[in-house]
Amino acid sequence: MKQDNIDRIIKETYTDFNSELDIHSDIKIPVWRMKLFQTIRYSENLEKMKIPTFKEKFLINLFTSIFFRLCLYKGVMYLVIISIFNQKGGCGKSTTAINLAAYLAKHGKKTLLIDMDSQANSTVGVGIDDEKLTSSIYDLLNNQEFKKENILKVIKKTEYPKLHIIPSDINLANAEITLSSIMSRETVLKRILESIDGLYQYVIIDCPPSLGLLSVNSLVASNYLIIPVDPSFFSMKGIKNLISSFNGIKINLNPGLDILGVLITKFNGRKTISKDIKETLINAFGDKVFKTVIRIDSKIEYSQDNGKPIINFYEKCHGFEDYTAFGSEVVKWVTQKI
Ligand SMILES: Nc1ncnc2c1ncn2[C@@H]1O[C@H](COP(=O)(O)OP(=O)(O)OP(=O)(O)O)[C@@H](O)[C@H]1O
Ligand SMILES: [Mg+2]
Repeated sequence: MKQDNIDRIIKETYTDFNSELDIHSDIKIPVWRMKLFQTIRYSENLEKMKIPTFKEKFLINLFTSIFFRLCLYKGVMYLVIISIFNQKGGCGKSTTAINLAAYLAKHGKKTLLIDMDSQANSTVGVGIDDEKLTSSIYDLLNNQEFKKENILKVIKKTEYPKLHIIPSDINLANAEITLSSIMSRETVLKRILESIDGLYQYVIIDCPPSLGLLSVNSLVASNYLIIPVDPSFFSMKGIKNLISSFNGIKINLNPGLDILGVLITKFNGRKTISKDIKETLINAFGDKVFKTVIRIDSKIEYSQDNGKPIINFYEKCHGFEDYTAFGSEVVKWVTQKI
């Protein structure tokens, strides 16, 4: 794509920032970069407003850290819930959810994958036929099943040890409507997970590509958010909306939610745009950008056609290497945080 075309797309995308575009046009800072930086700065300020005092933050962190380290030392289960979310479609959410869950299970962690998307890509991606399901996440959300025994009936074992899934099917497409009419509709998934506390170490949630009630439920139930970003200009637009949504949820619904990191997916080292967007994300998010980037690899799609995570499919490819490195980074970052 020619530079002129790229500039035109950016200008059209950021019509509401036209005035800034005019002001800064002489110094040639792409407007999407400015907008991203502004959003990050805004989010930092909001976080500061939420934290009452340094002493309180220090004490909370200290006690939480001691508590979790004691749990680890004593071998008590602790639960880390991670949503994989970006409202941009096709940026690698399901691929990341499937392979992170597969990595964790392969390395001895009791892991539950939750498919919150009616496309059922994660369900199919770990070898479960969504068309043959008798129950799915939809039944739990719709009937508000908070009884442990009812939840356990919906959880499916996969062919991989320690990896279980709450699958999804096309019925989930109705969930936005059914959820909208119930009380405390944003916390249904949170209450479901509270009922099975102690059974798993990691819960990985594959979110749909929109910020409807299904994604809100996922983020409200989570401790961490991982944002997969494929290097394209439209992704940068999506990030701005995503950070605003994250702030809204953190302030109003889940103060315990943190961004664990930004993961660059579908990276093509031969494309300038890939390198440019990587640099921009590092400038904006700093050390919140995972060191690992997921390189573009046709074997990933091939493994999904076979209903297997690349982690359990073929070892001699970029997809396997990158998702293995990413999985180990996630475990390291989570352990450092607790
Ligand atoms: N690193 C990669 N290399 C090559 N293809 C990839 C890679 N990551 C994902 N894909 C392919 O890109 C497509 C979209 O990926 P995926 O389904 O994971 O995205 P998504 O964000 O979950 O999409 P949606 O928003 O529709 O849920 C899939 O066909 C997948 O196989
Ligand atoms: Mg998906």
